[in-house]
Amino acid sequence: MPTLTIDGKEITVEKGTTIIQAAEKLGIEIPRYCYHPGLSIAGNCRMCLVEIEKSPKLQISCYTQAADGMVVHTTSEKVKAARRAILEFLLINHPVDCPVCDQAGECWLQIYYMEHGLYNSRFMENKVRKHFKATPIGPWVNLDSERCILCSRCVRFTSEITKTYELALVNRGDHSEITIFPGKELNNKYSGNVVDICPVGALTDRDFRFQCRVWYLDKQESICPGCSRGCNIEIHYNVQRAHHAGGRRVLRIKPRFNPEVNKWWICDEGRYGYKFIDDKSRIQMPYLQEGEVLVETDWKVVLDKVASTLRSILTTYGTESIGVIASPQLTNEDLYLIRKLFVEDLRLPHVDFKVPVKEKGYEDDFLIKADKNPNTRGAEELGLGAREGSLNVENMLEAAGTGRLKALYVFGQDLTNFFGEEKIKEIASRLELLVFQGSNLNPTGQYAHVILPSATYAEKDGTFTNFEGRVQRIYKAVEPLGESLPDWEIIIKLARLMGFSYPYQSAREIFEEIATVIPAFNGLSYKVIGSQGAKLATV
Ligand code: SF4
Ligand code: SF4
Ligand code: FES
Repeated sequence: MPTLTIDGKEITVEKGTTIIQAAEKLGIEIPRYCYHPGLSIAGNCRMCLVEIEKSPKLQISCYTQAADGMVVHTTSEKVKAARRAILEFLLINHPVDCPVCDQAGECWLQIYYMEHGLYNSRFMENKVRKHFKATPIGPWVNLDSERCILCSRCVRFTSEITKTYELALVNRGDHSEITIFPGKELNNKYSGNVVDICPVGALTDRDFRFQCRVWYLDKQESICPGCSRGCNIEIHYNVQRAHHAGGRRVLRIKPRFNPEVNKWWICDEGRYGYKFIDDKSRIQMPYLQEGEVLVETDWKVVLDKVASTLRSILTTYGTESIGVIASPQLTNEDLYLIRKLFVEDLRLPHVDFKVPVKEKGYEDDFLIKADKNPNTRGAEELGLGAREGSLNVENMLEAAGTGRLKALYVFGQDLTNFFGEEKIKEIASRLELLVFQGSNLNPTGQYAHVILPSATYAEKDGTFTNFEGRVQRIYKAVEPLGESLPDWEIIIKLARLMGFSYPYQSAREIFEEIATVIPAFNGLSYKVIGSQGAKLATV
């Protein structure tokens, strides 16, 4: 294990560690463009040059391995001069159209120019024009080859990570440019990642372009709800300038590094699947069916209606007459309270969460899982699946059709996808009470007698358990829209009206109880889960 000195600080590292990595361990950030820890080393930008004593020339730190006794300087005058020269070189043919560039504010040309450049331009000649200016090269990505610094990160991503080979560097000298193979589109299932790794404004996100300047964005850590992988993400939202992006608050999703789950990457489905958060389909008020129509009302009216109807059905027909369909889109905390109220306190036998799907979802051997829910494992661990002798979703709907079930409480799921709209309409007309508790109105919700508006994953705290049994935290980024509330809060209110007093003030308090009551969650807490997640005790 070599021991070296970087800027006067000594460190011992594993054999094979590069200088840039060793410096990072010491908290020294060496500027870089082409180096990316998830890709092979290209060593072409020269931005990471450092001075190594006894070495005649400056060396690139992304490629040079640490050696015993090495003495490295990352901020010597020689290094600083080299960085300035590299920046001047990279910017020679760059259009410097920062005011109209979507990358402005998070562009590494801008950042490094301010930190290491600050020279006066000496370039008087005409700049070389490239072929692509603001050109879509796929459903999600725009290419502006004049802004490209030829670091080749995007090319390496498509050849090493997705192995789809859409991009290439062509031509020589100052005519070199990034291009897409003729007849190809950058449309692989992970294409948005090239925007994240492009250090400049050459590859921009068509979905996000010109929606908001990045300095108005705030960030919150979260977990993608798009499938059971549970990729770690950041939600980027704008509440400072409400007039931007037509009033949408959540404006983009970015991957968050987790070596155990998704490394640096996320899929396009997850990245661009956030629109439902501020969509027109959001249910912002409680609704009650009057005659044939749903009428806006308030929480007191709907909760009284649900509590009194459930109570009278229970008294007249017993616990066998009510079915509950929970959802693997909900957090462990939401699901735990559903279990507490319906299974433990009301003693309802017919509780399930598995709605059949028509077709198995797409899955690959990288990140994407066929199960498009973030918390199926959590729902299973919490015992919300149909048990022996109880009705599953399919049987519940049959029982509702024959009049055996009098009430059905559905959490967000759209039953029409599998069972068809006619059947759900028919069932709704036979039931005494169909409750729909969800964030967005779907065809099932349209037939409900009562609608309870709930918060999306971006509007509440909680945890999801991914397919491997890793429990991960989600945090509230934005306030619940309109009158909507986190599902666990709605359950607490309903429980109180039904005679049960639940003492929880926060999702954290619910999780503390889960960790003591459910063996698989023993030993876990929000602190233990942290920002990278923690495995169930049984895994
Ligand atoms: S488009 Fe971006 S990521 Fe690709 S080579 Fe150019 S600067 Fe690098
Ligand atoms: S792989 Fe799954 S969890 Fe990851 S970003 Fe895609 S949809 Fe989301
Ligand atoms: S980061 Fe080392 S040469 Fe580009």
